[in-house]
Amino acid sequence: MSCRSEDMLEFLLTRRSIRQFKPDPVPDDVLFKILGVARYAPSAGNKQPWVFVVVKDREVKEKLVSVRAGFSLLLNAPLGVVVACDKELAQVSYQVDCANAAMYVMLAAHALGLGTVWLQTLRDVEGVQKVVGLPENYVPVALIAMGYPAEKPQPKPRRPLDEITYLDSYGVKYPV
Ligand SMILES: Cc1cc2nc3c(=O)[nH]c(=O)nc-3n(C[C@H](O)[C@H](O)[C@H](O)COP(=O)(O)O)c2cc1C
Repeated sequence: MSCRSEDMLEFLLTRRSIRQFKPDPVPDDVLFKILGVARYAPSAGNKQPWVFVVVKDREVKEKLVSVRAGFSLLLNAPLGVVVACDKELAQVSYQVDCANAAMYVMLAAHALGLGTVWLQTLRDVEGVQKVVGLPENYVPVALIAMGYPAEKPQPKPRRPLDEITYLDSYGVKYPV
């Protein structure tokens, strides 16, 4: 494997969920670069059923926190991105399409030195829709808090590969 490939794997391995942010704003050109890259996430039939609602306004953030207290770390992030997908356009795959787009947002942000954390919206679909004005067919699949990291978390533990990898049939261990 070339050095560059190793660097790219290292890039993936060094992404962390970031929950503490510096107050510095994220410039729009940086944000648009990230969202521009996120458009290249794969989606079933290339339907690209996603939209991005960028949340910067303090009042909107507070309304989101009133939907779910767990969103409160958004108050200390310069912005949030609601990734929502059209469940009518992509009836079977809207959640996974949206998850791909959300992951691309997080990875593009990481590439530019920004930190992100995915906040769970799927228990509060109607509440989030209402706050950010999404129509009923657009399901908010992720709320991503974003900003320059003010912490360097250690990697979270991962399950061992030999515990989760099978050969041809579930339960048949693939010796790693
Ligand atoms: C679908 C999903 C929902 C998540 N929801 C939350 C959340 O509501 N609050 C939070 O602090 N982190 C949330 N996370 C982040 C996870 O806790 C985190 O990805 C996991 O602990 C692994 O840590 P890492 O991202 O630093 O590798 C979520 C992640 C995913 C993929």
